[in-house]
Amino acid sequence: MGASKFVVGLTGGIGCGKSTVADLFAAHGAGIIDADAIAHHLTQPGGDAIAAIRAAFGKEYITDNDALDRAKMRGLIFSDAVARQRLEHILHPLILEQVKAQLQRLQAKPYIIIVVPLLPESPEFRKLVQRVLVVDCDENTQVARVTGRSRMTVPEVRVIISQQTPRANRLQLADDVIHNDTGLDSLAEQVTVLHQRYSNMLSCH
Ligand SMILES: Nc1ncnc2c1ncn2[C@@H]1O[C@H](COP(=O)(O)OP(=O)(O)OP(=O)(O)O)[C@@H](O)[C@H]1O
Ligand SMILES: [Mg+2]
Repeated sequence: MGASKFVVGLTGGIGCGKSTVADLFAAHGAGIIDADAIAHHLTQPGGDAIAAIRAAFGKEYITDNDALDRAKMRGLIFSDAVARQRLEHILHPLILEQVKAQLQRLQAKPYIIIVVPLLPESPEFRKLVQRVLVVDCDENTQVARVTGRSRMTVPEVRVIISQQTPRANRLQLADDVIHNDTGLDSLAEQVTVLHQRYSNMLSCH
C-alpha cells in the first residue's frame, strides 16, 4: 500500500457526526480523506464510475449530462439489496484507488483520518488503517439529526439505519469511541483528547 503515515479510520452510522468530527480534526492539522466525497466525485458528470454503472444498470440510470441519476439510483437501492451490492462492487475498488492516491499526497500531514462509513463491511479499507475511531450516538439522535438536515423522513432514516452494520457490532471494532449525543462543545473536547493521543502515537506505530 506504500503509505507510511499513521492512519485512522473514522466510521459511524448515518448522521452520527462523522463529517463534523472530521472538520474538527482538520482544524488540528490532520489530513482528511473522505470516501463519500470520492464516491460523489466518481459519479459526477464524466466520472470514472459512470461507464461501469451504465453497463451494469442501463442508461436510464445515467443523466443526459453523463452523471449518475442519484434520485433514481437511491430509489432502486433503497429496497434492493442485490442492486446496492452491485453498485458497491463498482464503486469500492475505485474509491480504494483514490484513497491510496490521496494517502500518498497527504504524507506531509502529522497523521491521516479516512472517513469511511462502510469501514465495518470492508476488509480492504480496514487493511489501510492502523486504528478505528467510531463516532457513536443514539438511534433517536441519528434520526433527529438527519431529518433536521435533509428532506428525508423518519421511516426512510430508520430503513437506512437497519441496513447499516448494527451499532453494537460497529462499536466492537472501535479502538476509540467519540460519544456524540450531547453538544458540539463536548464533541470538540473529545476530538482534542484524541488529537493528543494520535499525535503521541506517531513515533510508536
Ligand atoms: N453534537 C452535535 N450537536 C448538534 N448537532 C450536531 C452534532 N453533531 C452533528 N450535528 C449535526 O447533525 C447533522 C449530522 O452530522 P454529520 O453530517 O457530521 O454526520 P455524518 O455522520 O457525517 O452524516 P452522514 O452519514 O450523512 O455523512 C449535521 O447537520 C450536523 O451539523
Ligand atoms: Mg458525512
